[in-house]
Amino acid sequence: MKNDWYKDLVVYQIYPRSFMDSNNDGIGDLKGIISKLDYIKSLNVNAIWLSPVYLSPFKDNGYDISSYKDVSPVFGTNEDLKELFDGIHKRGMKVIMDLVINHTSDEHMWFKESSKSKDNEYSDYYIWADGVDGKEPNNWESCFGGSAWCYVEARDQYYLHLFSKGQPDLNWKSPKVKKDVFDMVRWWCEAGVDGFRVDAISYLEKAPFDYSPNKPNAMGYSFCMDICSGRDNTHSLIKELRKIFDEYNVMSVGEVSVSSPEELYKYSSDSRKEFNMAIPFIPPVVEVDTWSVSKMKADIKASYEILKEDGCWARFLSNHDKPRQVSLYGDDKEYWKESAKLLAMITHLLPGTPFIYQGEEIGMTNIYYSDLNQYNDIDTKNFFDHEIAEGKSEAEAFKRCQLISRDNARSPMQWNDTKYAGFSKNNPWLGVNENYIKINVKAEENDSTSILNFYKKLVSIRLSNEALKRGKLEFLFENSPTIFAYKRVLGEEEFVCISNFSESIETIDFPFSNYSVLLNNYDENLLTQSNTFKPYEAVLLKRK
Ligand code: GLC
Ligand code: CA
Repeated sequence: MKNDWYKDLVVYQIYPRSFMDSNNDGIGDLKGIISKLDYIKSLNVNAIWLSPVYLSPFKDNGYDISSYKDVSPVFGTNEDLKELFDGIHKRGMKVIMDLVINHTSDEHMWFKESSKSKDNEYSDYYIWADGVDGKEPNNWESCFGGSAWCYVEARDQYYLHLFSKGQPDLNWKSPKVKKDVFDMVRWWCEAGVDGFRVDAISYLEKAPFDYSPNKPNAMGYSFCMDICSGRDNTHSLIKELRKIFDEYNVMSVGEVSVSSPEELYKYSSDSRKEFNMAIPFIPPVVEVDTWSVSKMKADIKASYEILKEDGCWARFLSNHDKPRQVSLYGDDKEYWKESAKLLAMITHLLPGTPFIYQGEEIGMTNIYYSDLNQYNDIDTKNFFDHEIAEGKSEAEAFKRCQLISRDNARSPMQWNDTKYAGFSKNNPWLGVNENYIKINVKAEENDSTSILNFYKKLVSIRLSNEALKRGKLEFLFENSPTIFAYKRVLGEEEFVCISNFSESIETIDFPFSNYSVLLNNYDENLLTQSNTFKPYEAVLLKRK
C-alpha cells in the first residue's frame, strides 16, 4: 500500500443520529447505517467517517464521551459496530472514527472520581483551579458561551471546560491521562479502524491562566479559544499520537483551529509528522457573513501555496458544524441544482482529499425552524442567550440562530417522500426539512440529471484520474470576481475546471476547442463547447 493512500480517498461523513433509524425510536443508529451501506457505496466513495457513536449523555450529541470503548445503546451495540466495520470493509471502503480526546463527558468515570477529592487516582485527570476572590479562576469564555469554568463543591475548586459544562478538558500534563488515552487509541486501531478524525485537537495545552488578552464581552468574559490553540506542547503530543497511527498504518485528519495557512502547515505538512491532513477552522469554511467568490479563491490559493510540496488538504465545504453548503455559498432556490453541482465540482477537483457530508450529495438545504425550542444544538441555544445578553432583540437573535445553527446540517437525512422522509416511522429527534417531498434520495436516484447522479460521476472521475488526485494546481482568471477556474496538471495530462460562480451570464475567453467536456452541470450530455456560461454553469474539460 502506498504510504500516502489517504490521497486516494473520497470520504463520506455520517452524523449517526440523523442518518437512518432502524428501530423507529426517532434516532439514527448503527443498524440504520448498515442498511444503507450499498447506497453509500453507490456514490463511489471509498471511506466513511462516523461522527461519535460512543456512550454519552449527548449534551453535545456524542462529542461528550462517557466511555471510550463502548457504543451507546442509543446507536446499538459493540457487535453492531463490528458488523458495520465488516460491511464497510467488505465493500472495499475504509472506516474513519471520531477521536475526541481534548475532553470527556462529565459523566465519564474519570471525571466522577476526579470531582470527588484532590487526592485520589483520578484527581489530576482534569484541569482544576482555585477560585479567585470567590469567583472563577479567570474570566475565560468557553466556545459555546459563558464562563469556561464550573465550580464543584466537593473539591471547592473549578474545572476548565473549553466547550460545554458537560465537556471537562482532560489534563494532558498528567502522564496517566496520556497513557490511558494512548492505550485506548491502540485498542481502536486493533479493532480495525483505518483512520481517525481527531476532534478539537489544537487545544490540548492551555494558555497560562493569568493570560486573557481578548476584550471582555458585556458579561466580562474574554474568549479563550484562540489563546489556547496551537501551543507548543500540543504539537509535541500530536507527534506522539502520530507514532501510534503510523504503527498501524492508520490515517489521521485533525480538526484544528488555526488563524493562518502557516499555522495549518504545522498540522498537516508531511515533514512535521503530525496529521496527514487537517480540517481547519479558516476561511472559507468558517465564514457565514464575509465570504465572497474572490475571497474564497484567494484563501484556497494561499493555503495551496503553503502545502503544495509538502502536505495534504482535507477538502470540504460542509460538515455537522456548518450550515448547508448550497444555502450558504450557492442558491437554494432558482439555481439550487446548478449551484449544488458547481460547489461539488470545485471541491472534488481541487487537490486534497474530498469530504462529502451526508445529504450534501442530494443538495439538502438549511432548515428554518420557526421556534427556538425546535432547535436542539447546545451551541445554538447558548448563542441565543449570548446575543440577548449583548443587547440584541429576541427577533434579531433568533434570525441569527437560523442562519448559523449547526442544526441546519443535522436535520434527518431525506431518503424518500414518505412521512419523516423515510428516516424513521416515528417523530425524529430533530424536525425533518419540509422540502423532503422534492429533495430526497429516491427521487434523485430516478432522475439522471439529479445532484445525486452528478456526485456519483464526479467521484468516479476524480478517483480514476491520477492528475485530479496528485496533479499540480494552476489558477485561471485569477482576478475575476465571478469565474472560479483552475487547471490540474500531471505529466502530459491536463484537466480544467471552469465555473461561473454567479447568477449572471458570463463570457469566458478560453481555447475550448483544444479540450473535450467530461462533465457539465447543466446537461451532462452536452458536448458542444461555448464560451457563454449560464448562471452557475460549470464544466470539467480534458485537454485533447
Ligand atoms: C468539534 C466538533 C463539534 C463539537 C466540538 C466539541 O468542533 O466537530 O461538533 O461540538 O468539537 O467536541
Ligand atoms: Ca434508532
